[in-house]
Amino acid sequence: MIQGPIVTSPELGQALNPGPHDTVLEMLPMPAFIKNADLVFTHANPAYCDLVGLDRERIVGARTADISPLDAVWHEETDRRLLSAGGVTTYEMNIRHPGHPPMRGEIFKIRLDDSDGGIVGILGVIVDRSGQFAAEQRLLETETIHRLVVDSITDAVFLLDEGGWILFAGPAVTEIFGVGPLEALAGGTLDAMMGGGAGNLLDLPRDRATRGIERRVERPDGRTREILVDVKPIEIGAGRWLVTCHDVTERNDGLRRLKESMVQTVQALCTTVEQRDPYVTGHQDRVADLAVAIGRHMGLDEDRIEGLRLGAIVHDIGKINVPIQILSKPGKLSAAEFDIIRTHSETGYQILKDVDFPWPIARMVREHHEGVDGSGYPLGLTGDQLLLESRIISVADVLEAVTSHRPYRPGLGLEHGLQVLREMRGGKLDPDVVDVCIELIESKEARVPGWTCEAGAVESR
Ligand SMILES: [Fe+2]
Repeated sequence: MIQGPIVTSPELGQALNPGPHDTVLEMLPMPAFIKNADLVFTHANPAYCDLVGLDRERIVGARTADISPLDAVWHEETDRRLLSAGGVTTYEMNIRHPGHPPMRGEIFKIRLDDSDGGIVGILGVIVDRSGQFAAEQRLLETETIHRLVVDSITDAVFLLDEGGWILFAGPAVTEIFGVGPLEALAGGTLDAMMGGGAGNLLDLPRDRATRGIERRVERPDGRTREILVDVKPIEIGAGRWLVTCHDVTERNDGLRRLKESMVQTVQALCTTVEQRDPYVTGHQDRVADLAVAIGRHMGLDEDRIEGLRLGAIVHDIGKINVPIQILSKPGKLSAAEFDIIRTHSETGYQILKDVDFPWPIARMVREHHEGVDGSGYPLGLTGDQLLLESRIISVADVLEAVTSHRPYRPGLGLEHGLQVLREMRGGKLDPDVVDVCIELIESKEARVPGWTCEAGAVESR
C-alpha cells in the first residue's frame, strides 16, 4: 500500500539518528530500524537487534542481505518501490532469525523525506501479529474441519433459530429433500422443508434430550422419503438448534419386507396346522380379528396391534405336535388326551422363542392359556406376570371357541359365549379385557372383520 510522502523536519531526522540511546526509536517497544536512501541500515533499536539476533554494530552499516539473506532481494525491491513512490507500504511476512522464535509480523515502511523534498531513507517498524495470526489460523482450521465434517456426513444438517428458521443447511439436504442448501435457506423454516407438520419439532427437546421423530416428506420431484429427525439444542449461543435428518426410507422398506416375509412364513405354518384340523378352520383368523378390535379399543398403538394380530394368528401353532386323531376326535377327550392337547402352548413357545420377532410373539403363544388368577397352564402365572396381549388373546380365544362348532359339539351361540366370559371374568380371564370385549360385541359399535356379531350367523357356521 503506497500513500503520499511523509515529510520530516530536519530536527526529526536528526532526532531519529543522533545516537544509540537517545532517540524516539529507542523507546519503541516493537522492532524498528532506519535505512538511508542507499538502503544501508543507519539505525536499529534494541527490539530489532533482539529480533534478528545481532548487535547494533553488526546492523548499522549493513544491507538487508547481511541481515535476512533469504528475503533480501524481495525486501530491497519493496524498498526501492517505496523510495520511488513515497508514502507508506505495509505487508505481512514470516520472520525467522536464529535464536528467536518464529514470528508473524506486519511491517510498516515509511519513506522519510526532508523539508526540501530530498529522500532521507526508510523507517521500518515491525508489529508482532503472531497471536492474532495464530488465532486466525485456528479459526480457519476449525472452520475447515467443521466444513469437512458437514460435507462428509450423509445426514442433512440444519441450524435453526428459535422460530424454526433455517440459518444453515448442509449439502446432504439436496440428496434427502431434493432441494439445494440455498433453496432450503430461501424456503425459510424447517416446517416448510417438511411440507408442514414439523412446527412442533422445536417444542420437543426442551428437556435437552435427543429425540428421534420419523416424518414422511414429499420431495418436489414427487418422491416420498421417510426421514428420522433429531433435534438438539446448541449449548453455545441461546436459541440455536441443530437438526439432523437421516433418510431411513431404505431401512424401513427393508424392515417392512423382512416383517412381511416373517409374517407370511408363520402364517403359512399356521395354515398347515389348520389343515390338519379342519374343525378349527378360520379359528385363528377370527381370534386375531377380535383380539385386534379389543386391543384398539384399549388404546394399543398400531405397532403393538400388529404384534397382537400375529400373536393371535399363531397362538395355536403348537398343535402341530398334537396327533391329528386327538385334534379331530368327535367325542369327549380323555384326561390323558387333554394333557397332550395342553402341551400345545409350551410347544408353540419352543417353536417360536428363537425367532427374532419385533414383538414378544413366543410369550403370547405360551401365555394364551394362562389365567389371571394363576389357574392356567403351562406355568400357572398370574395376571401381573402376563402380557396384556396374552390376556387379550385368551378372551378372544375363549369367545371364539365357545361360539364355533367343535368336533364334539355344535357352536353354542354368541349369547352363551358372552355368558361364559362373564363367568370367567376375574378368574381365568382379565376383567378389563372381558368388559371391553362384551362392550364391543353388545354395542356393535365395532364391526370385527371376519367375525360376525350376529348370534344366528355364528350358529350357522
Ligand atoms: Fe390354544
